[in-house]
Amino acid sequence: MTRRGPSDRWGAMAQLMHWSIVVLIVVMAYLGLTMVEMPNTPRKVEVYALHKSIGLAVLALVVVRLLWRLYAGAPDPLPAPRWQRWLAHGTHFGLYVLLLAMPLSGWIANAYSGFPLRWFGLFRVPQPIAADEALYDLTREIHEWLFWLLLVLALAHAFAAVWHHLFLGDATLSRMLPRRRGRAPAPLQEDSR
Ligand code: HEM
Ligand code: HEM
Repeated sequence: MTRRGPSDRWGAMAQLMHWSIVVLIVVMAYLGLTMVEMPNTPRKVEVYALHKSIGLAVLALVVVRLLWRLYAGAPDPLPAPRWQRWLAHGTHFGLYVLLLAMPLSGWIANAYSGFPLRWFGLFRVPQPIAADEALYDLTREIHEWLFWLLLVLALAHAFAAVWHHLFLGDATLSRMLPRRRGRAPAPLQEDSR
């Protein structure tokens, strides 16, 4: 596959999408966990609607991110033992699967609930599944369990990034962050001038 992004760090687009999705997942977790405890008022309906609309936006963003990843590729891997590279690949793959499965399971659960789905009140989102209470219960349980799985994997992933930065002193984390202003580029090697 041809790489179109930089070779030593993640490009601006990949960084922007990574961190926007992180922020949106935190917002979604907060909304999801608090809304289910709310009393049955019109406010609850509004928060549910917001949760579903942002969740569908996350789904679209993840699809764009994956397409961009296929198009632009990834920077060169940093030196690391082979098992660490496989572990990182496996974790990233799992995170992508969960980033897709989370909103899809929510969408399917909502379809089984029989509630209509409007994206930020703008248009009706198709839900070509008939309402079914038992399947609603099952799919919303799946939605919840996928969330706990995502939480565990994302925490392990963030912990590994911080560990690399603080204790191994490598560029794993800094190359997923914007370049610091005023910082001179690393000097060229004798043989690469
Ligand atoms: C990134 C995407 C998403 C995340 C991280 C997320 C997270 C959550 C969380 C943490 C809960 C609370 C679970 C519980 O304690 O029972 C929840 C509930 C729920 N989510 Fe999502 N969600 C996402 C996307 C969606 C989407 C796209 C929809 C629908 C289109 C949706 C529909 C629902 C519904 C209907 C519930 C409530 C289930 C109930 O009443 O028990 N979610 N979500
Ligand atoms: C909801 C939370 C998060 C999710 C879903 C997530 C997801 C991902 C995914 C899927 C990748 C792989 C990129 C690719 O190969 O295309 C990645 C890379 C990365 N993430 Fe996250 N991430 C999250 C939170 C964090 C946090 C909190 C940090 C830092 C503390 C972080 C630091 C990084 C770094 C440094 C990379 C690049 C790793 C490398 O170059 O091998 N992520 N993230």
